[in-house]
Amino acid sequence: MPGAVPAGEPVPADGSLPASALAGLAERPFGLYVHVPFCQSRCGYCDFNTYTAAELGGGASRRSYPGQVIEEIRLARRVLGAAPPASSIFFGGGTPTLLAPADLAAIIRAVRGEFGLAPDAEITVEANPETVDERVLAGLRAGGVTRLSLGMQSAAEHVLAVLDRVHQPGRPERCARWAREAGFEHVSLDLIYGTPGETDADWRASVEAALAAGPDHISAYALIVEDGTRLAARIRRGELPAPDDDVLADRYLAADRLLTAAGLDWYEISNWAATAAARCRHNLLYWTGGNWWGAGPGAHSHVGGTRWWNVRHPAAYARRMAAGRSPGQGREVLTGQERRTEDILLRTRLAEGCPVALLSGAGQRAAGDAAARGLAVPAAHQAGRLVLTRRGRLLADSVVRDLTD
Ligand SMILES: C[S@@+](CC[C@H](N)C(=O)[O-])C[C@H]1O[C@@H](n2cnc3c(N)ncnc32)[C@H](O)[C@@H]1O
Ligand code: SF4
Repeated sequence: MPGAVPAGEPVPADGSLPASALAGLAERPFGLYVHVPFCQSRCGYCDFNTYTAAELGGGASRRSYPGQVIEEIRLARRVLGAAPPASSIFFGGGTPTLLAPADLAAIIRAVRGEFGLAPDAEITVEANPETVDERVLAGLRAGGVTRLSLGMQSAAEHVLAVLDRVHQPGRPERCARWAREAGFEHVSLDLIYGTPGETDADWRASVEAALAAGPDHISAYALIVEDGTRLAARIRRGELPAPDDDVLADRYLAADRLLTAAGLDWYEISNWAATAAARCRHNLLYWTGGNWWGAGPGAHSHVGGTRWWNVRHPAAYARRMAAGRSPGQGREVLTGQERRTEDILLRTRLAEGCPVALLSGAGQRAAGDAAARGLAVPAAHQAGRLVLTRRGRLLADSVVRDLTD
């Protein structure tokens, strides 16, 4: 959840939602996102809502945090009433693995107690490689975590240094193997491409090292230079070159070829999985209009077309929870048209594609053009779905603009 927070309307103190939001709650999958806003150190490229011990200030601590999240889960149950059992929980950050496995397990128990968990619920924890070892991984598995997502980023030491990552090359792959030994069926590795100084050979070696660790899922993201980060300042001062669009496109194509050849197929532009079961169910819920409650500072939620976001600072969040007030800072109720546009935008990024019937007349003509220009698969288009080709994935933003204009 990086970037600026929209203005929105105020959230009622008890967190209650408009009746329109609750109406279809039972009809779609329901998940929980739990934000853990702590990091040991700040990576120079990252503008996520996360705090080092020095940045945190008074009024918030790692120790008191799990109890506050559990309070918010209770609030969620009061607001939502009879929601379906959770089909997924995703602990994201920040660095969730700065909390003890017992704390994460207590939060999972709270979700189970308030909402119930679907029998095959997916429970993911994002983990920084330097914060986990065999003992921690066994503790996470015993606490009910089913999926581990490791922030590998690169196998090249000089790339990790530019990114300010603190782990040693080789550590993420070791963690992935330990995770398998601890009984995790689903293990994912996150990679970043286009870091200043990274060569084609570095990138290829990173993808190959990730594959050799035997994950069933890999995410690969182009490095985004976020305003206000240390990385942006270094590029502005001329200390580092900015990522180059052509290089980013080549790196994406190289990754897609290597991953596909190793049996991991793309199912979203930046995500590849070995089997349908290995796809991240929680992220699919975001991309297909599901409902989720985001707990924690700065977390975003969506239920039935109402979106809201929490106060950003952990101390402000702690004050709200202590006062028994909703941590929601603002919200917006999407119009039917806004929901449709968002649906098109997200579904077009999926390998399953976007039903052409969702598009306006002009959008359907644009879909036809995309197929004619080699950006969408012609056979899928004839069957009523817009599915991006490899080249189309590189130009996804402009294809989507044409579909929704
Ligand atoms: C915000 S992190 C949270 C998990 C964990 N702390 C980590 O770093 O792996 C989730 C993913 O977002 C990626 N990320 C953060 N900022 C990014 C940026 N500016 N460009 C591309 N990826 C970014 C991280 O590298 C990581 O893989
Ligand atoms: S460890 Fe992850 S969340 Fe923390 S600063 Fe680095 S990229 Fe951001």
